[in-house]
Parts: sequence; C-alpha cells; structure tokens
Amino acid sequence: MGRLDGKVAVISGAARGQGRSHAVALAREGASIVGFDICEPLRTVTTPGSTSDELEETARLVEAEGRSCLTMKADARDLPAMKALAARTMEEFGAVDVLCINHGMWNVAANTWETSEEHFEETVDVMLTGVFKVAKAFIPGMLAADRGGSIILTSSANGFTPQPGAAAYCAAKAGVINMMRVLAFELGPHWIRVNALCPGGVESPMLLEGGTVERAAELNPRYITNNRHLLPIEWLPAKSVSDAVVWLASEESKFVTGVELPIDGGWTAY
Ligand SMILES: NC(=O)c1ccc[n+]([C@@H]2O[C@H](COP(=O)([O-])OP(=O)(O)OC[C@H]3O[C@@H](n4cnc5c(N)ncnc54)[C@H](O)[C@@H]3O)[C@@H](O)[C@H]2O)c1
Repeated sequence: MGRLDGKVAVISGAARGQGRSHAVALAREGASIVGFDICEPLRTVTTPGSTSDELEETARLVEAEGRSCLTMKADARDLPAMKALAARTMEEFGAVDVLCINHGMWNVAANTWETSEEHFEETVDVMLTGVFKVAKAFIPGMLAADRGGSIILTSSANGFTPQPGAAAYCAAKAGVINMMRVLAFELGPHWIRVNALCPGGVESPMLLEGGTVERAAELNPRYITNNRHLLPIEWLPAKSVSDAVVWLASEESKFVTGVELPIDGGWTAY
C-alpha cells in the first residue's frame, strides 16, 4: 500500500530535473500524475529548453510505476491553458489532491543594475506570476472537490539568502515564500495545506547545463554557487527534494502548513 494511494498530483515543470523526479516519487507512492511543462527554451536563459520527448519520458517512467499520467505541453504563464488543464484534470481524475508548482529557470548577471529588463521580467513572470496563475487555475477545483489537499511551492535557498547577480531569481523566490503564507492562511479552513520547499544546489539541467554556474563564479568570484552546503556534497540529488515532496503530500505532514522547508544540506545555516 502506497502513502498516496487514490490521490491525484499535478506537477509543473515535469519534463525533467526535480519535476520528473517528483512525478516518479509521487507515482511510486500510488498517486496518479498530471504533468505539464513549457517544453521550449526560455528567452533569457542559457540553459537548454526542455522538450516534448523529455515530458513523454516522464510519462513513461510514471506508467512504469503502474500509475496513469496525463501530460501536456503548456506554459504556466498562460492562464487560459492552465484553466483548460485544470478542467481536463477534473474531468479525467475528479480531483486534485497535490499541487506541486515546481517549474522554474535560472540566470545570472554581473549585478542588479546590469540585469536586463528582459531577464528580470521573464524571471518574475515565470517564477512568481506563473506560480500565481497555476494556483489560480487549480485551487477552485480543489475547493469544489472538498477533500483537502497539499500545495507545494518550490522556492529556493535563494528565497531568503542573497545571491549576487540573481536579483530577479531571489526576488521571485522570496515572493513565492510570502505567497505561500497568504495561501496557507486562506486555505487552512478547507484543510488545504500550503508549504514551500527551499532547495540548495540541486543536480539538474538548470545548473549543470548552459554554463550558468561557471558564469556566476566568474562574475562574482567572492561568491561561489556550490560551496555553501555544510554537508560534504557538491550537489543535492533531486530525489532528496522529492522525498520532502512525498512527505508534504502525505498524511504524515497533516498538521504542517505555512512552512518554508530548507532541503539544502545546511546551505542556509552558513
Ligand atoms: N537546481 C537547483 O539548484 C535549484 C535550487 C533551488 C530551487 N530550484 C528550483 O527548483 C525548481 C525545479 O528546477 P530544476 O532544478 O528541476 O530545473 P530544470 O531546469 O531541470 O527544470 C525546470 C523545468 O521547468 C520548466 N519550465 C520553465 N518555465 C516554465 C513555464 N513557464 N511553464 C511550464 N514549465 C516551465 C522547464 O522547461 C524545465 O523542464 C525550479 O523552481 C527552480 O527554481 C532549483
């Protein structure tokens, strides 16, 4: 018996990295999965874009766990697309129990004042406004189903610690933490819990492909992006974040809401 048997989990940014890992981990515990991803490069990042093939591979991995998986190529910033996916999820699965808003992007500049408008705007659009739009589209169905639930927002250790050259990222992720607290307040009476995960440096395409880590180290040698973990690790495995996702999705965290949870190998104690 899985810890999430009979539950339905929606995951944004499901094509690869942490999103794929969350989809497989939640399915392994018995949840049916709805996963979506933009499956295209973003304009202002050097990380290669995810692809539809990668999203299909996530579906294949979920199905290999014996669970069904609905996938869709969709942009979190597109509210009509989010509403259509929410409606389809309700039609096909009848409820949303776990809403995992995980999608994101990362870029660095020399400093805040040399950050381009495009970089700042795209980052905030994707990671703050996009989180709002996914929540706005899916929460009404969760309320209508009236069976509680767990909303898990992916912030970052950078949601409460600074990283030079990443003002847009840090501002968006800090915004996610306080949006989480507002949602936790609003949804508490409905037994919908809302929490934020704050990972440290995670092994995923976001950091490991496209040269942003090397660029960050070059631009700000005073601050090296992956040396802050207190544990003797270079990067955290995506599974370490998925383990927390499963816990927050499960009954074991029934009384946990309004929390920003660092999964960071001690990064933020530094
Ligand atoms: N990798 C890290 O070190 C790290 C650390 C802390 C927090 N995070 C956060 O974790 C989350 C997952 O990142 P990851 O490490 O798996 O990176 P990743 O690049 O492997 O995955 C991010 C996914 O989000 C998708 N995406 C981006 N914009 C989208 C949009 N508008 N609509 C739908 N999908 C979109 C991308 O296509 C990609 O598949 C992000 O929110 C990221 O900011 C990452």
